[in-house]
Amino acid sequence: MSTERTQVVVVGAGPAGLLLSHLLHEEGIATILVEAQDRDYVQARVRAGVIEHGAADILRRAGVGDRMDREGLPHEGIELRFDGTAHRIAMTDLTGRHITVYGQQEIVHDLTERRLADGGDVRFACGPAAIHDIDSAEPSVTYTADGGEHRIVADFVVACDGAHGAGRPALGGALTPIEKVYPFAWLGILAHAAPRIHELVYANHENGFALYSMRSPTVTRLYLQVPSTDRLEEWPDERIWDELALRFSLDGQPWEPTRGEIFERSLAPLRSYVGEPMQRGRLFLAGDAAHTVPPTGAKGMNLAIRDVDLLARALTEQVRTGEEAGLRTYTDRALRAVWRAEYFSWWMTTMLHRFDADSAFDRRVQTAQLTNVVSSRAYSTALAENYVG
Ligand code: FAD
Ligand code: DHB
Repeated sequence: MSTERTQVVVVGAGPAGLLLSHLLHEEGIATILVEAQDRDYVQARVRAGVIEHGAADILRRAGVGDRMDREGLPHEGIELRFDGTAHRIAMTDLTGRHITVYGQQEIVHDLTERRLADGGDVRFACGPAAIHDIDSAEPSVTYTADGGEHRIVADFVVACDGAHGAGRPALGGALTPIEKVYPFAWLGILAHAAPRIHELVYANHENGFALYSMRSPTVTRLYLQVPSTDRLEEWPDERIWDELALRFSLDGQPWEPTRGEIFERSLAPLRSYVGEPMQRGRLFLAGDAAHTVPPTGAKGMNLAIRDVDLLARALTEQVRTGEEAGLRTYTDRALRAVWRAEYFSWWMTTMLHRFDADSAFDRRVQTAQLTNVVSSRAYSTALAENYVG
């Protein structure tokens, strides 16, 4: 087995891992980034689209926001649609801030290019890495690639390896999982179709939730709530388009998104999860490795960006001055933002989805809640503040 040494090993090249290794590089701290999948796979993975105000600022400050600012779509409002009626939440009027619609895979692409241009040590296609000895002064990460076993010993290990990585199990008995599973999933598609309108639409229809989003002037991104037992084969193109038109209905009439070739489709289960604490010994977890939110609030990647911003500062302080306070308090500081996002994402999810178990009372209360949100400036502002971040 080959053995190397570095200051920080980062596991996982999603937005969290790539941004962390970039931020540490900017501070002169050496990292090795180990990713299970190959580069094409990582860059093709379609997920988030909404970048909140604060996360966009972190990317700009880090010098990786130029293309996002050039090509991303600034949005000043969103629409809530229910009972066949459209209601706009004027986010920018209410908060002075806006969101940017820019695909997660574009951010991953921009960060990867920048790491490689800076000579960063980013290793793709390593297979699943394992984390060891986190309670010692010499934690390490091992992986198998090119027919050989590799070991990297470091001062710190950061697991940015998502919900199914090595980070959560490595915390062992120290980890308390706090979880809520929803009985549905999102069927998401990307289509070569011009967006019919230019703001996101969150629709609550008796058949279930639907979300209208976009990626560019020629690509539409759409989602449908489906039972978590459904399979993609059960959703041929025609069925998807017809169901979208129905769920976006206005005044009793189906509202057709512009149709086009569907070139990507996936199913994502919805869950809320926080693993506490987010650290043990010399191991730190960031992003989806530490927490998951249902996508309704568009918060997952934004939280990942916030986590690594905090962690990069704490690691820099420790390396520069030996001061460990920032690292010791990382979990407590990160969890404050995490739990606010968990709350907002749960609130949006329960307000906008249909639950089979809901009684007539639950349904009426849901409509009353939506009515409050769109007719009271205080409620609208609360939604807008949380949404734009
Ligand atoms: P990931 O992106 O999951 O990256 C983890 C990486 O680690 C992966 O590349 C994986 O291959 C690698 N890995 C895993 N295990 C190992 C191992 N053992 N060794 C080495 N590598 C490993 N968020 C938003 O902010 N806004 C949105 O609008 C939004 N919309 C969403 C829509 C959908 C349908 C979905 C599914 C998610 C959405 N999210 C959104 C959430 C967002 O995509 C995630 O929160 C984000 O990907 C988290 O980034 P991450 O870097 O923490 O983890
Ligand atoms: C998108 C994803 C979300 O989860 C969301 O709440 C809004 C938009 C998107 O992929 O565009």
